[in-house]
Amino acid sequence: MSRNITMKDVAKEAEVSVATVSNIINKKNKYVSPELKQRVEKAIKKLNYSPNKIARSLKVQKSFNIGVLVPDITNPFFAEIVKGGEKLAVSNDYQILLYNTDGKTQREKDGINNFLNQGVDGIIDIAPRRKNKDIEKYYENNKVPMVIVDRPIKLSNKYAGVVYADNYIGSYEVAEHLFVSEKRKYICMAGPKNVPNVKKRIKGFVDGLKDLGLSKNDIEIIYGEFNHKSGHDLMKMLLNKYKSPISIFVCSDIMAWGAIEAIKNNRKIPDDISIVGFDNIYFSELLNPSLTTVNQPKFDLGYKSVQLLFNMLKNKKNKKEIILSTNLVIRKTT
Ligand code: RIB
Repeated sequence: MSRNITMKDVAKEAEVSVATVSNIINKKNKYVSPELKQRVEKAIKKLNYSPNKIARSLKVQKSFNIGVLVPDITNPFFAEIVKGGEKLAVSNDYQILLYNTDGKTQREKDGINNFLNQGVDGIIDIAPRRKNKDIEKYYENNKVPMVIVDRPIKLSNKYAGVVYADNYIGSYEVAEHLFVSEKRKYICMAGPKNVPNVKKRIKGFVDGLKDLGLSKNDIEIIYGEFNHKSGHDLMKMLLNKYKSPISIFVCSDIMAWGAIEAIKNNRKIPDDISIVGFDNIYFSELLNPSLTTVNQPKFDLGYKSVQLLFNMLKNKKNKKEIILSTNLVIRKTT
């Protein structure tokens, strides 16, 4: 069993100082010429050196871990966000620790405490579901950098930032896309009432329809949960209620998937029922008919969240609120 290769061996092989090897491995902001960098990387490869993470962590006082909370690990929307964050984390020698909260406040609190006890370097909280005094207090007072994703929360704490997509504009464009001249009902099948995104999506959709001359009597808003079953059950109710053509904006693709399943063989899509989702998760284009939806930049939501976290870790000046654009993806349900 060969002894552990050390930084000293790498320095000797590359004919550089140990400090140079350390600067490169710990990504310190000290300049190292490309030629030296190449020699060190060649030596690392030749000696099959892998820095001892624990020793390195102790030395640089970092865990190289980022804790990520997700509300529903089965929803591809969140998985695609984590994928974007992991891309940047891994390229900086960090690893992602996942914690599924099932949208429950107590689980979110436990997740944050577990991560803090584990000594993570930063926390990313994706789509925290419900306002909670203790958690809000943590957001405002934490010293461990935290980024909240997919929620437009105003925070003054310099160690807290937010990254989310523009729900209002994306939903306003849904209204413009769904609008037709002949009289019909426009329905917004929304998620849980107390989710900030839901309020913004409803407002964008309703404002868009009103700007097109419709009144609140032409619009119906119904609430459910961001899951397949809720979309399916709500759609069954709408099929019983409306016999004439309707247009539906469903506030998340996973709900729209359930709605499409419920419509099958009952009505023609889009002639009888035109339907638009929100998120553009990967299976939306695989549905039959493929789903018209509002694309959320999921990979970028994750990537920019980790980038913001790293900026906070380096005490770099950074924007505390990053808003990304959405875009309408037109497919076969409209
Ligand atoms: O599909 C899950 C939904 O919950 C997404 O629209 C996301 O924005 C979150 O709010």
